[in-house]
Amino acid sequence: MVKLVLANSWPRAADALVVGLVEGADGPELVGLPPAWAKREARRELSQAVELVQAEATVGQVKIVPVGSTRVVLAGLGPQRPTSERLRQAAGAALRALGALRRQPAKHVVLSLGWDRPEDLKAIAEGALLGLYRYAGQPGAQAPAPSGPSVQKITLLVEASPLHQRSVELAQAVAEAVCATRDLVNQPPNQLYPAVLAEIAQKVATQRGLGCQVWEPAALAEQGYGGLLAVGGGSQRGPRLVQLTWRPRGAKSHVALIGKGITFDSGGVNLKPRESMSTMRCDMAGAAACLSTIAAAARLDLKVKLTAWLPLAENLPSGSAYRPSDVIQLYGGATVENYNTDAEGRLVLADALRRAAEDKPDLMVDIATLTGACMVALGLSTIGLMASDDVVADQLMDAAEAAGEPMWHLPITEEAERALRSTVADLRSGGPREGGALVAAAFLRRFTESIPWAHLDIAGPAFNEGEPQGHTPVGGTGAGVRSLIALLTSLAG
Ligand code: BES
Ligand code: ZN
Ligand code: ZN
Repeated sequence: MVKLVLANSWPRAADALVVGLVEGADGPELVGLPPAWAKREARRELSQAVELVQAEATVGQVKIVPVGSTRVVLAGLGPQRPTSERLRQAAGAALRALGALRRQPAKHVVLSLGWDRPEDLKAIAEGALLGLYRYAGQPGAQAPAPSGPSVQKITLLVEASPLHQRSVELAQAVAEAVCATRDLVNQPPNQLYPAVLAEIAQKVATQRGLGCQVWEPAALAEQGYGGLLAVGGGSQRGPRLVQLTWRPRGAKSHVALIGKGITFDSGGVNLKPRESMSTMRCDMAGAAACLSTIAAAARLDLKVKLTAWLPLAENLPSGSAYRPSDVIQLYGGATVENYNTDAEGRLVLADALRRAAEDKPDLMVDIATLTGACMVALGLSTIGLMASDDVVADQLMDAAEAAGEPMWHLPITEEAERALRSTVADLRSGGPREGGALVAAAFLRRFTESIPWAHLDIAGPAFNEGEPQGHTPVGGTGAGVRSLIALLTSLAG
């Protein structure tokens, strides 16, 4: 990864500078100009450049201008006193723009956006590292042209204190986790299937000193994991259940993370129509988020006991696939009338939630690209949150706020609960389309054994089909990871 350092004076070798533009009364105003640049000529030259290139103070807008041999990035920050997330977005947009330079690539970038509280610095550092992200493809494969970003070093101009240093370490761990999640989501589904993802989890566990156990299909059958076996039954590439554990000394609470890991969701026998299948390699984004989060917790030595559960399967139609109206017995014995084979996520999550609950954790959080309905309700960038109670919901909302991720609390209504009634099994896996995100949550709640629980629906934000924006690239985004790490950081105290 790129080297990130703190320094209080201009580093000789720097060849690029990022400064901020805030909305002033008379147009965009420069902020964060380093002392060496605040001298009158340099300042005048830059102010003229702002006007000439029509730089804007809107968040995410960037313009690059040459001043001598230095590339200066004018990064919009919005109105005065930007939020941490605006700083993160601006740093992301700036570094993405610099990373894309071909003829005169920038190697050593100085970031000076004008705000340097520890939390601002953390956001800026995170945004910069996230903005530089590029999916490199398989190791050994032909690198996507033009080849990866040239930026090797970033200096944050600030009076370095231990608090600032800790902010940078946190930012590096968070960015590594988000980028690792993006890499997993971006891998093609013929190369990343359940057994491969399980192997990757094992490798990560070894690197980070985590416990790791993997259930193969025979063991799943023996122990009654009927959801995973039904959903994974249509694929030649069988399902897996992965358990990862982080057991630090001095932990006060135990959190279980459960991530949906459908390595490809064709819909199964209820095949998805045309375009809606094209992004379905993202359907393991929840599992990837849990894997990266527990790895980050270990890297940061967070004092909270963690268990991550990754139910992994590929949802395909075939002669051995499960059907709509099948009755399936899930882990723990409950029977489910299968409503639609495209509602596969809740079945594998039910197995994993029910198993996770056996260990009686203090809190369970699942994260899943679960419903198109959640995208209809909240759009493409907001995470849907449903929870066992408002106390848990507030904990997650606070974490999302601290992390700068948009999240919104949705209810689990009586109406949603009613949609689960079945005459042939204990419950049905779905019903009418209306309120589909809530119905899915009501279903999951049945398997939480009344343990405090939150459910994050990331169907919208996990994958960006549009343009890159701020620190968000095209493809896998790593949605939810920042919020989960923020939650665990606050629980670790
Ligand atoms: N993986 C999809 C949800 C999804 C949709 C994720 C779009 C990302 C982008 C999920 O398995 C699914 O297909 N859900 C169905 C449920 C329905 C059949 C009850 C849906 O949302 O249509
Ligand atoms: Zn589906
Ligand atoms: Zn799915």
